[in-house]
Amino acid sequence: VKPFRIIVAGYGTVARALLDMLVTQERHLAEVHDVRLVPVAVVRAAGAWVDPEGLQLDRLAPRALMRKDVAEVLENVQAEALVELTPTDLKTGGVALDHVRSAIAKGLHVVTANKGPVVHAAPELEALAAKKGGSFRYEATVGAAIPLLSLRASLLGDRIERIDGVLNGTSNYILSRMGEEGLGFNEALEEAQGRGYAEADPAADVDGLDAAAKITILANRYLGLGARLEDVRVEGIRKVTGEAVQLAVKQGYVVRLVASASQAAGVTVAPRLVPLASPLNVQGTLNVVRFAREYGGPVSLTGHGAGGRETAAAVLADLLAAAGVAPR
Ligand code: HSE
Repeated sequence: VKPFRIIVAGYGTVARALLDMLVTQERHLAEVHDVRLVPVAVVRAAGAWVDPEGLQLDRLAPRALMRKDVAEVLENVQAEALVELTPTDLKTGGVALDHVRSAIAKGLHVVTANKGPVVHAAPELEALAAKKGGSFRYEATVGAAIPLLSLRASLLGDRIERIDGVLNGTSNYILSRMGEEGLGFNEALEEAQGRGYAEADPAADVDGLDAAAKITILANRYLGLGARLEDVRVEGIRKVTGEAVQLAVKQGYVVRLVASASQAAGVTVAPRLVPLASPLNVQGTLNVVRFAREYGGPVSLTGHGAGGRETAAAVLADLLAAAGVAPR
């Protein structure tokens, strides 16, 4: 089988989980999908591991790192795809945007879990990919392991009226722990960080920006709003007190950080009272999205919206699509 060579930018929780999956799933992918995904470079801040024949993933020693950054690797190493997994910079898109743009310009497929390039430049990057013969895929950016973006094909015939979701695992984990266990905000945040759910800068989680980026991606994909991150009215969970959370529960509600989008009301993120029986009442790091449709009525998808393995699973699905694996 012809190898589908990939360059991985980043070496954090998601990148490591993906590299792990490439090893553990290698046989399954070959037998079931007739595909061989071969990592030829992994680029981290300290340098790059490169082997044009395929890296031995169990032997990535720090002393074998070469002094190369992503731009140099893209210039010198032949590959079919770049997987961009560096930390998200929501302000400008950061270096990830440069990585993605250069890879697409070279005709590579790009798969990312990084929201920065998507919220800042998705239309440009998708148009460039179409011109250069590659693709730009970012299923993992919204709801990690929940197939929220690829669901679009199944919803095409209907009209989406509004989207509501709980899209930040860290905030939901904090609100859940405050409600059930009576934990303090900081204590719950430290737990979420310890478990690898939080962004590099957790302010993006608790101040609602991460959820804002995700609902923006959904709003543009499903409602064609052409929204920018600056257009979202955002309120985070810092002002939500333990007393408020516990009082809500006594009255049959929970407090959830709800992200919403509709043509009429635009895009918002704010803590809201959600009835206990609502599909939006998800626990811990679970995410949920509820699409209200004109003909088909509401449909909700719930699942793991954060975590290394969960996000890597979505990245791998995109990689298989980029490699031309069609479902049987
Ligand atoms: N920090 C994010 C969250 C990770 O807590 O949901 C997934 O984007």
